[in-house]
Amino acid sequence: MDILKKLENYREEEEKLKWEGTFADYLDLLKEKPWVAQSAHSRVYNMIKDAGIEEVDGVKKYRFFSHQLFGLEEALEKLVEEYFHPAAKRLDVRKRVLLLMGPVSGGKSTLVTMLKRGLEAYTRSDKGAVYAIKGCPMHEDPLHLIPQHLRADFYDEYGIRIEGNLSPLNTLRLEEEYGGRIEDVLVERIFFSEDKRTGIGTFSPSDPKSQDIADLTGSIDFSTIAEFGSESDPRAYRFDGELNKANRGLMEFQEMLKCDEKFLWHLLSLTQEGNFKAGRFALISADELIVAHTNETEYRSFISNKKNEALHSRIIVMPVPYNLKVSEEEKIYEKMIRESDVADVHIAPHTLKVAAMFTILTRLREPKRADIDLLKKMRLYDGKTVEGYNSQDIKDLKNEYQDEGMFGIDPRYVINRISSTIIRKEIKSINALDVLRSLKDGLDQHPSITEELKEKYLNFISLARKEYDEIAKKEVQKAFVYSYEESAKTLLDNYLDNVEAYCNKVKLRDPLTGEEINPDEKLMRSIEEQIGISENAKKAFREEILIRISAYARKGKRFDYYSHDRLREAIQKKLFADLKDVVKITTSTKTPDEQQLKKINEVVARLIDEHGYNSTSANELLRYVGSLLNR
Ligand SMILES: Nc1ncnc2c1ncn2[C@@H]1O[C@H](COP(=O)(O)OP(=O)(O)O)[C@@H](O)[C@H]1O
Ligand SMILES: [Mg+2]
Repeated sequence: MDILKKLENYREEEEKLKWEGTFADYLDLLKEKPWVAQSAHSRVYNMIKDAGIEEVDGVKKYRFFSHQLFGLEEALEKLVEEYFHPAAKRLDVRKRVLLLMGPVSGGKSTLVTMLKRGLEAYTRSDKGAVYAIKGCPMHEDPLHLIPQHLRADFYDEYGIRIEGNLSPLNTLRLEEEYGGRIEDVLVERIFFSEDKRTGIGTFSPSDPKSQDIADLTGSIDFSTIAEFGSESDPRAYRFDGELNKANRGLMEFQEMLKCDEKFLWHLLSLTQEGNFKAGRFALISADELIVAHTNETEYRSFISNKKNEALHSRIIVMPVPYNLKVSEEEKIYEKMIRESDVADVHIAPHTLKVAAMFTILTRLREPKRADIDLLKKMRLYDGKTVEGYNSQDIKDLKNEYQDEGMFGIDPRYVINRISSTIIRKEIKSINALDVLRSLKDGLDQHPSITEELKEKYLNFISLARKEYDEIAKKEVQKAFVYSYEESAKTLLDNYLDNVEAYCNKVKLRDPLTGEEINPDEKLMRSIEEQIGISENAKKAFREEILIRISAYARKGKRFDYYSHDRLREAIQKKLFADLKDVVKITTSTKTPDEQQLKKINEVVARLIDEHGYNSTSANELLRYVGSLLNR
């Protein structure tokens, strides 16, 4: 379908969604769809809930956020369960300004933008529909028309609680345009749009001396005072501040803590009492979610200032820390690259993972437990199985420190280093080494890195490099085996047959000759030695394997290559040991013979076809691994 056709369809859809009627019609509609009268907080919560919630390992995962925010599940669960959910139920937190606090480039703005874009779409759906008094610059809630003395009766009939008073402007219009007949007041469906300034606002402070409160609460339109005769005629007022425009929806307050106090007090009265003062009018009721964001330093200095004391209790702080999982960090980079101009560059497999390892290391604190080092902690946090540790260990580790995720390298730094590598070298293919080198070079230019920190970070770069060396070797060795999985499986089965015969003290049957033969001690030892199992310990190890097999069998599961971590490691090492010389010689000869050349081409082809390399990165990998094996 071409774009013009799509535009036309969109317009038609918009037309279909429109609704206009009298207040009496609106009441009929409410009987059918009572949810359209929900509060702004409730709408935001339902928007998140309606997108779907999964539960993974006891942590909630909101689909609303999960395609753009990675590794923030715990923070998001806290945000939804401790703010949005109770706020939707009209509990007290609703009366506080929501302040997202986290380190730079940790996803705070992204989160707020998702809420904004989400609301724009949600108000176009049936569940998220919003209705307002027609022609009102603040799209006032039509139910404000119901006078105070009838609200209890209204609640009995409709089960809907009304908050807020009819604004001065609509009070006047009701008299002048509708002769006081509430039932005739026109109501329309509205659709949130930041561009059209409906239901969504953004306030960012500028120079405190020149900034006018009008940006927030609107202002007198002097050109119309003559027409209406007085400054206190609401028709002479322009309700075009961000708070006015965001009514019924959400206002983002950027750099809130940098803002002059007088702005804050307006906000606080709004959140606390549900109304704010504008011009010379009675208080104006508004219903909106206010979200601000800040970093920790700014927040601490705000808190420590005595002058701000009264404000503390009116703000609810929700942490938005950095992600601490390598695999999620990779997804962040993938997303940022996809959205950038360098999206067409080939990035060799494992490149982003290795960069992510470095980044996550900078965000972790050294474990207090002596049996866990930083790398192990990194793996555990990422949900990788580390033999001998379970989910309780992860919980304990997380409880050791409260500030993890609040410091370290930010994702934007990594993306900038990747882009600068690409741009400077004009290369169309980058690998892990390019990126590590660039991360290292960049440390000198990073504004907030002290010498001491730099030392530490350089150490993390070499840790990540070592991890990469292992990954690279394995990758090449795997590619050397015609079918790695197949070979590993065959070797494993062979080993298990022998172990079984050994433990049960029986003989094996030679598959070819049918002759009875003793278990192949040499084969078993050659595998066990790979993981340092001594002659004395071999019996216990073999028996443990056998017990594991029968435990699996009892549960109806098959014991396979992935069932026992150490055995898998042993099998892998054995396969690689057998190959080592071939790999070493093949990858490092300057003048390969015909046989070696054929092998190299085969391996390169496999790296390209099965492992996601291109010919540049595959050849770079082979050369690098060759040099590693010759060290
Ligand atoms: N946890 C995360 N998941 C997905 N993207 C993230 C995450 N943290 C940061 N980003 C990305 O990093 C960039 C900077 O994030 P941003 O929302 O501007 O941070 P902040 O407002 O906290 O400074 C954005 O491109 C954002 O998408
Ligand atoms: Mg931001």
